[in-house]
Amino acid sequence: PTAHEPTTAPAEVTAFPTARHTGCPFDPPAELAALREESPLRRMRYPDGHHGWLATGHAAVRAIMADPRFSARYELLHLPMPGFEEVEIPPAAPGDFTGMDAPGHTRYRRLLTGRFTVRRMRLLTERVEELTAEHLDAMAAQGPGLDLVEAYAHPVPAQMICELLGVPYADRKQFTGHVATLFDQRADIEAKGAAYGAVESYVKGLVAAKRAEPTDDLLSDLTGTDLTDEELAGVGSLLLGAGLDTTANMIALGAFALLSHPEQLAALRAEPGLAGPAVEELLRYLTVADPAVRTALEDVEVDGRLIRAGDTVTLSFQAANRDPARFPGPDRLDLRRAATGHVAFGHGAHQCLGQQLARVEMQIALPALLRRFPTLRLAVEPSEVPLREQNNIYGVRSLPVTWDQT
Ligand code: HEM
Repeated sequence: PTAHEPTTAPAEVTAFPTARHTGCPFDPPAELAALREESPLRRMRYPDGHHGWLATGHAAVRAIMADPRFSARYELLHLPMPGFEEVEIPPAAPGDFTGMDAPGHTRYRRLLTGRFTVRRMRLLTERVEELTAEHLDAMAAQGPGLDLVEAYAHPVPAQMICELLGVPYADRKQFTGHVATLFDQRADIEAKGAAYGAVESYVKGLVAAKRAEPTDDLLSDLTGTDLTDEELAGVGSLLLGAGLDTTANMIALGAFALLSHPEQLAALRAEPGLAGPAVEELLRYLTVADPAVRTALEDVEVDGRLIRAGDTVTLSFQAANRDPARFPGPDRLDLRRAATGHVAFGHGAHQCLGQQLARVEMQIALPALLRRFPTLRLAVEPSEVPLREQNNIYGVRSLPVTWDQT
């Protein structure tokens, strides 16, 4: 053994743990905590036979995510989920900058960052409040006993990202199913390719329309940059896909977590000032987007271990966000905790572009829901709530709720 491969190195993990439903619906798979405790960065054998790594500790995850020697290029990756052993993953399509490194990635981020600033997103506050109120009114009119995902958690952020981009919400049947396929870990590479193609060709049609007749929205605005139509369609598809289901799952799973922690729920309902910290803590505690995957471009030493060029690392944000070395009592939902530094939006160059929008949406939507329905509760046993297993975005498939009509 070399200095980098101590004889005490923990055994290689042979499967990436993904089943979250084994105990509490809000907790990461139990194996992840055990693996992190033993070693926050360790070897993992991938389903295709690749001997790569698994990072579960907060410090290791942040260090790797911040290091440009780790690449996000799709074609270099080995995937930790089974089902992709035989396939070659194609490089990122034009505009799909999640799968690109600098300088290509930097060019897209530069064009977009200014359009997603805290200030710009705060300007949307009023519109989020209106949309929230409209949907709460519709829920009240419908009466107790409904699915919170369908009535509230999904439509509010979906309508918001559509309006921001300039995508007609009325067209949603043309893309929501395809976006769902992109995140579904049970869909194979052909299904994912077809789904991406369908979303991209839908957005391409819109881009052509905006070039001919610009409207007041982000896609029209971007036609004034040097992006080609193909790149614009890729950027539009990425933003639509990333904005459609992520915040929706945080709102629905967040509501479920709060309903399961009545004292925390009561605090959020009573104290408007708690909305900001509460959302950060819910992001940390629930970590719906997980994991990230990166490949070392050269030999890199992290945490005393040598990651060799070509090695893939799977980074578990949910394990990092429950690391007791960073968050004391990590398995406790505590809305008053200062949860800053969590990695629920990732970290480094690819850190979530839409995080300020997501924050505004969650900080408005969750307290408004609790205040509008003071007796809101689950309409089924917690164990009967269907969970989004085997999905890149965790959450609930539906959340049956009810309340007392006054
Ligand atoms: C990237 C989470 C909402 C757009 C990411 C990443 C995470 C994440 C973890 C990093 C992935 C990686 O490095 O591999 C979330 C969560 C959300 C949310 C938890 C909701 C609570 C949104 C929204 C948008 C968005 C509303 C809409 C604009 C993006 C984009 C990227 C990204 C474009 C890629 C950034 C890049 O590669 O440079 N998100 N996201 N996200 N997110 Fe979000």
